[in-house]
Amino acid sequence: MVMKLKILKDSNPIMRKVSQPVELPLSNDDKNLLDEMLLYLKNSQNEEYAKKHNIRAGVGLAGIQVGVLKRMFVVYYKTDDEHEVAYQLVNPKIIETSIKKCALESGEGCLSVNEEHQGLSHRHFKITLKAFDALTNKDIEITARGFDAIVLQHEYDHLDGIFFYDRINKNDPLTQLPGEELI
Ligand code: NI
Repeated sequence: MVMKLKILKDSNPIMRKVSQPVELPLSNDDKNLLDEMLLYLKNSQNEEYAKKHNIRAGVGLAGIQVGVLKRMFVVYYKTDDEHEVAYQLVNPKIIETSIKKCALESGEGCLSVNEEHQGLSHRHFKITLKAFDALTNKDIEITARGFDAIVLQHEYDHLDGIFFYDRINKNDPLTQLPGEELI
């Protein structure tokens, strides 16, 4: 499979724009793009493939990162027990968030960000998200905690032009919030 997608970097002003709702039912073009995006993530996690094509491993990718300002993103990763998390989420809405916070201890990364940004990106520990999932062709409601919730919030932020490093306290990047869980 030929790699067609080009990932925009955070220096590109487009990345700060707010993405627009996607028309449903989904067009073939939008579905094809989501399929390509999902395949990109799967390939990126294949060490040999990633090395050959000089790409980094990613677990999430939003439309805006490939220059399409539509409210949709894909997520793909395997959990420890080899269970797969895979979504093609369209018009997602976060409808519930926990007061409890969490952060990825090692810091977050992003396919659009080459530089390292040390610090904790503060997230809700638990979220409930509603969306149309183009992978299963269904309206779904996802309740996610910890790492799963972080990935969804990271991608959701892209739809509003927000980067993970915007959520790092520049004056105090490494201090946990009260009651915050490190993942
Ligand atoms: Ni990202």
